[in-house]
Amino acid sequence: MIDPKRVPQFRLNGGDPIPCLGMGTFGSDRVSPEDVANAVAGGIRAGYRLFDCAACYGNEDKIGAAFRAAFDEGVVERKDLFIMSKVWNDMHRDVAASTKKTIADLQCDYLDMLFIHWPFPNYHAPFCDVDSRNPDSKPFSVAEFLDTYRQIEALVDAGLVRHIGISNMTIPKLNAVLDKLRIPPAACESEMHPCFQQQELLDYLNARNILSVGYMPLGSPRRPERDILPDDIADMQMPELVAIAKAHNCHPAIICLKWALQRGVLPIPFSVHNYEANLEATVTEKLTDEEMATIATLERNNRLVKGQVFLWPGANDWHDLWDEDGVIVSCTDC
Ligand SMILES: NC(=O)c1ccc[n+]([C@@H]2O[C@H](COP(=O)([O-])OP(=O)(O)OC[C@H]3O[C@@H](n4cnc5c(N)ncnc54)[C@H](OP(=O)(O)O)[C@@H]3O)[C@@H](O)[C@H]2O)c1
Repeated sequence: MIDPKRVPQFRLNGGDPIPCLGMGTFGSDRVSPEDVANAVAGGIRAGYRLFDCAACYGNEDKIGAAFRAAFDEGVVERKDLFIMSKVWNDMHRDVAASTKKTIADLQCDYLDMLFIHWPFPNYHAPFCDVDSRNPDSKPFSVAEFLDTYRQIEALVDAGLVRHIGISNMTIPKLNAVLDKLRIPPAACESEMHPCFQQQELLDYLNARNILSVGYMPLGSPRRPERDILPDDIADMQMPELVAIAKAHNCHPAIICLKWALQRGVLPIPFSVHNYEANLEATVTEKLTDEEMATIATLERNNRLVKGQVFLWPGANDWHDLWDEDGVIVSCTDC
């Protein structure tokens, strides 16, 4: 058990604190909702106070039962937890209904943060394979994004959501929307791990006081099959990282987490077996400047969630989702 008071905190743009590390809850089509909920139950008792949930992970009802049990047993009160969830792509036109279901499933009365999971309404079925395409998929639209965002602003006004988050954004998309938002986003959730650092995006978000939440902080060794390509690099097997872990007498996972924290990113590792060690990483010795510099050299531009299943008819390939030439690809109203 790590005393939650010892776990450092980040400050959100409105001044509210948020624990510096949270527990991810996506079972990656491999870990059952029951096992994820057991990890959440164990995580609360181990000192976790931040949980990254999502409607599309298909386990919010089981996680909600774990929250409820912790409340009923007096382990924590609702106000002690920072609960985040995300509206899935098929509910962009009815965010209130999606959010009310999430809040009911999680048995949590309100959300501390609600993310727009992806910036477009393209969705795929759970457990789909990499060639799966939805014929209704569309490129990014500023007007549609703003409509979704404004529905969340209304949920903030109604007291159901405390902070707004965005996810899977690019700098061109952020440039297109940020000055049009009444309530600025408090956080942006993005893929970030040693072989995919997104330093430019991190700098951009820091300059605008938007906290970076880093997903797949360990390089997600057991991600869904659809997100595995033969050339992908295993972050935790990089020799430099292994050597630093050896020097600290810990698993490379712990080094990935310390690196994230020390560069100002809030990591949300998923774990059913090692979650206590991951939280402990927030309170043990820091990496040296030299070790941080060594990890900075591990950038390989190895995006793991390429997003092929979100492509719209006529798109070239997954690179179109990430605006790599600095303009939003195929935007209809930019
Ligand atoms: N916004 C988005 O679009 C988005 C996309 C993807 C993910 N996410 C969020 O990010 C979270 C994390 O991503 P992820 O789950 O894909 O990947 P991850 O956290 O990078 O990796 C999780 C894997 O690492 C293993 N692991 C964890 N701690 C370890 C340790 N100390 N030593 C050895 N192995 C360890 C886990 O195994 P054990 O269970 O055996 O410990 C699990 O297989 C998700 O759960 C989800 O909440 C968000």
